[in-house]
Amino acid sequence: MGFPEKLDIPPSILHIAQTLDRAGFEAWCVGGTLRDTLLGQPHSDYDIATSATPDQVQRLFPRTVAVGVKYGTVGVLDQQRALHEVTTFRRDVLTDGRHAVVQYGVSLDEDLARRDFTINAIAYNPLRYEWRDPFRGAEDIAAGLVRAVGDPRQRFEEDFLRILRAIRFAARFDFAIDPPTWEAARAAAAGLRQLSAERVRDEWFKGLQTSRSVRRLVSMWIAAGVARVWLPELEADPRENLPEPPADIRDPVLLTALLIAEPSRALRRLKGSNAQIERARALEEGPTEPGAVDLTTVRRWMSQVGPSADDLTTLWRLRHGTEAPWAAAMTRIRQNKDPLTRSDLAISGSDLLALGVRGPDVGQTLTQLLNRVLEEPSLNNRDGLLALAREMS
Ligand code: CTP
Repeated sequence: MGFPEKLDIPPSILHIAQTLDRAGFEAWCVGGTLRDTLLGQPHSDYDIATSATPDQVQRLFPRTVAVGVKYGTVGVLDQQRALHEVTTFRRDVLTDGRHAVVQYGVSLDEDLARRDFTINAIAYNPLRYEWRDPFRGAEDIAAGLVRAVGDPRQRFEEDFLRILRAIRFAARFDFAIDPPTWEAARAAAAGLRQLSAERVRDEWFKGLQTSRSVRRLVSMWIAAGVARVWLPELEADPRENLPEPPADIRDPVLLTALLIAEPSRALRRLKGSNAQIERARALEEGPTEPGAVDLTTVRRWMSQVGPSADDLTTLWRLRHGTEAPWAAAMTRIRQNKDPLTRSDLAISGSDLLALGVRGPDVGQTLTQLLNRVLEEPSLNNRDGLLALAREMS
């Protein structure tokens, strides 16, 4: 694969590169954005690698943020206050599989050599329109191959998260993993225990969000031995007959619930947010579907599961590969704005107290009224409900 002669680089990035260049430093675009550009995929902001040290970068630009100064990264804010990452050429010394101590004063080629995969180790000079690709990443992009830079064992031992990254890129771009890289990844899988749950969760979620085939992502997590360490449920219950989730559903909590019977437990292990764990728990609790598809039954079910109704409906679609049979009823109920909760009722607790309902009975009366209204939404008017409440008391 040849390189395009010139890339269309956004003005803010060009400005940063020019500022560095005028001060006598090198400035190159690097990282995943170049890879995505070469693949013709939508891409985010370009990262800049430079020979300037973090101190020098901070002195050259009026507004900076110390995003990862320990690892050489300074955030440079542009006129619109958008942040661009500028990282000093570095070599990783003393890696322990999770963190690195870094050393500056190295060349661009050395900086590229410490990167994980050849497809991520390409550089482009936006001022000189020059490419640097010492590990032939462009050839691997053309061939559809994830290949470690240099010795794969060493690359994975420097940072075990790279095992998950290799799988994520393969599943996202539908690439193969070069056999020696794959063997080294499997051999290093025990090291995954050392990673923090948060980093593993981020990779699991990103993998689910970006994979072309979720089934392939999962089968690689199992085959590499990642599942055994972090999500043994995937291995114990591989759900082989699941339809491939359609590309428009890439919600990581829903997909976790699709793949794992007790998703809340798995998400707690991966230190998901309380909101994510709670969503998963509600999916487990159900009821997973209404007992019938008539409007009253669907309304009762929607009232019971509350905010999980959409998640449960989507999950059914993911499991069965077709729209849930009650989906049309649910749409109608929403279009009609049918009351579904006590607070949707046309009267409130204070109306009941005014009628003489005893304080402790107010809640129960409201629930009874709601039950009637779920059967017959047209009953939801003030006078009608007050009359009903009088009958009940
Ligand atoms: N990198 C690495 N080892 C890691 C993480 C990152 O060598 N464990 C290098 C790679 O060269 C990568 C670059 O740092 O391209 C930027 O990393 P990051 O922004 O985390 O990922 P991207 O490769 O840009 O991909 P994506 O944004 O899709 O995750």
